[in-house]
Amino acid sequence: MILNVLAVGDVVGEGGQEILSRRLRGLQEDTQAHFTVVNGENASGLGITPAQARRILEAGADVITLGNHTWNRLQIGDFLDKEPAILRPANYAGRVPGRGMGIYECQGFRVAVLNLMGRVELNPNLDSPFKAADGLLNAGRFDLAFVDFHAEATSEKGAMGWYLDGRVQAVWGTHTHVPTADGQILPKGTGFISDLGMTGPSRSVLGLKPENSLNLFLGGLPHRYEEAEGNAKLNACLFAVDTETKRCVDVRRVDVVE
Ligand SMILES: [Fe+2]
Ligand SMILES: [Fe+2]
Repeated sequence: MILNVLAVGDVVGEGGQEILSRRLRGLQEDTQAHFTVVNGENASGLGITPAQARRILEAGADVITLGNHTWNRLQIGDFLDKEPAILRPANYAGRVPGRGMGIYECQGFRVAVLNLMGRVELNPNLDSPFKAADGLLNAGRFDLAFVDFHAEATSEKGAMGWYLDGRVQAVWGTHTHVPTADGQILPKGTGFISDLGMTGPSRSVLGLKPENSLNLFLGGLPHRYEEAEGNAKLNACLFAVDTETKRCVDVRRVDVVE
């Protein structure tokens, strides 16, 4: 069969959660998605609370992935230990709550989801995401695997796609909040895109008020970031996987813009 996996870019703030709650089910129907992974690291702007995680799951996510803002709301720690449907980057070097890979049942298949984070221009203290991927993929028992690689540098993301080509069914990037147009199927059958984009206010700088960002770049005093207002968008990609050949056969953007 063809298994359709929907991957949704970083949900930013109330606006992001609102459009997700209102539009995700319809998008799942339109795309005939069997399984949905949503990056939730910006549900609080920076970080995510247990209540926001529940809301994203209720909106239709099967799994929530996170990123560099995982610990901005420390109250998520216990929830990460308790709730198997939420993952944080697997390659934190220290002892931290939660897990970086989960295995879920979908259409009779064991579907693994891995959350990894890049080091280039993001967090040099992490363990190597490449070696972490090796360890998890070698130890896990699953039929199909999908990777959210939360990273800044397109070079590191591209390298991860090629590193995992043929070993997982898809690698998508998150974190930059800017959707990329490089969706492709790598030679050994792994679907890849550098960045999904974000789910949140359209008229913004990365989901936040443009004046907050301008203030920073013009040398103003540090300022609390505020979510932008107005219409939102939902950035997402659909990866279609042939479960017999285990190759990704289609990668396409399925954004919702209001
Ligand atoms: Fe991030
Ligand atoms: Fe983000």
